[in-house]
Amino acid sequence: MPRKSEHLKVLVIDDDPNVSWMLNKGLSDDFEFKSARDGIEGIQMVTTEAPDIILLDIKMPGMSGLEVLEKLQKVENRPDVVMLSGHAETEMVVEAMKRGASEFIRKPFEIEEVGIHLKSTIERRKLKKEVVGLQKELSASREYNMFIGESEGMEKVRELVDQVAPSELTVLIRGESGTGKEIAARTLHNKSPRAKKPFVKVNCAAIPRDLLEAELFGYEKGAFTGAHKTKQGRFEIANKGTIFLDEIGDMPMELQSKLLQAIEQQEFVRVGGVSNIRVDVRIVSATNKNLEEAIAQKKFRDDLFYRLNEITLGLPPLRHRPNDIPLLANHFVDRYNKMYKKSLPDISAETMRKLVGFDWAGNVRQLENFIKQMVVRNDESIVDDLLLTSPNTASQPSYETNGVSYGVAMTSAVENFSTSFDPETDGYSLKARVDKVVAKEESQLIRAALTKTNWNRRKASQLLEISYRSLLYKIKEYGLNEVK
Ligand SMILES: Nc1ncnc2c1ncn2[C@@H]1O[C@H](COP(=O)(O)OP(=O)(O)OP(=O)(O)O)[C@@H](O)[C@H]1O
Ligand SMILES: [Mg+2]
Repeated sequence: MPRKSEHLKVLVIDDDPNVSWMLNKGLSDDFEFKSARDGIEGIQMVTTEAPDIILLDIKMPGMSGLEVLEKLQKVENRPDVVMLSGHAETEMVVEAMKRGASEFIRKPFEIEEVGIHLKSTIERRKLKKEVVGLQKELSASREYNMFIGESEGMEKVRELVDQVAPSELTVLIRGESGTGKEIAARTLHNKSPRAKKPFVKVNCAAIPRDLLEAELFGYEKGAFTGAHKTKQGRFEIANKGTIFLDEIGDMPMELQSKLLQAIEQQEFVRVGGVSNIRVDVRIVSATNKNLEEAIAQKKFRDDLFYRLNEITLGLPPLRHRPNDIPLLANHFVDRYNKMYKKSLPDISAETMRKLVGFDWAGNVRQLENFIKQMVVRNDESIVDDLLLTSPNTASQPSYETNGVSYGVAMTSAVENFSTSFDPETDGYSLKARVDKVVAKEESQLIRAALTKTNWNRRKASQLLEISYRSLLYKIKEYGLNEVK
């Protein structure tokens, strides 16, 4: 006989005491019965006894079974309710099912029959719980495990993603190589109402330009040599879902007008075809190119740019959010330990300091590659070699942010901006220019004060003659970090 604690607890709410007496007699091997004589007592006992299941009589003096059911709706994690009904109460049974009862048993009942009902109801509930748990796990891994980062810049990105995902707006994702543009695009899709429909990626730089049109819009049989049968394009495959146009800056000029037309009219013609094909597709694109410059050079259509860019999502470079480096590094240690069945411990403080101080021209991808190598070789001390032999931003062409904000506002990017000035590229806005120069001066002065006081923030704030709080704010804003 199982121990009492393993028994499933059943609350019987019935004015007839014989019911629970009988059940207790016949089914006490598997269940523990508690009984309430009326609805009011029953509702109280739902909280005090926390039953696994409720057997509820429909007809009771005072509060009826239906009223009890109504009140139970408000109870969080309400147990399943099985109704007990007499023969003349069919209408009420229907009503009870509408109000959330899971099953009903007609009186008079066979004891074994009740046992079977109780067990199957509880099994179903367990299954439902498991499914909900799995779904939660899945969405948690989709939404949050993928997009790591707690820095202010990443919080802003996340906030914007949450705000924009449910809309139909086109989103242009901008950021240096390896900052997570593709992850951002997938997250946008996964959080949108289109999540269950396809997410189709097209890398405009990887597909030869002659083939790109057929790839995007499909082709009819015989449209060109080798077109043996009709083929759907990516736009059609993405119908009802999202199409992700990666490296959009590499889209050839000839195709840009067809793309613009397809977006504006939500329809297009296959290569070699005559009839229009209608699609309903959300468009997300990404680039690490300076599209404004490309527009000025007549390499990118400005009307297409505005169409694709109803919202800009700017991803901050990794060096502007050093606080995220430890999180990301250990996340990748876990990931690659699992993948390669290794057991490299979390990165040591000393190595972490080196990683945090590096400036990551290749952003998160470069960090990921570093960690992957450390895991594979089971040795974090190779960090010195890796850092020494890797390019940093000084030897890389720098990414022109050109007014693109990270998330919603550009903050910590300021420090890395040059103060040399060219109105042709920087624009003529006096305010923007002055803000930039002031920010640069300010961050340098703050850094100097912090260095002088050995990062004693209180002393530094006195030296700077600003409040302690505003110093903390500015340290965060400029992404200043103590280098030990
Ligand atoms: N916030 C993040 N959290 C976890 N992993 C990330 C994050 N950002 C980027 N990565 C990882 O870094 C790598 C590069 O990301 P992704 O491909 O999205 O970058 P990208 O901006 O599209 O780069 P590129 O411009 O070179 O195509 C991927 O392996 C991705 O998993
Ligand atoms: Mg990419």
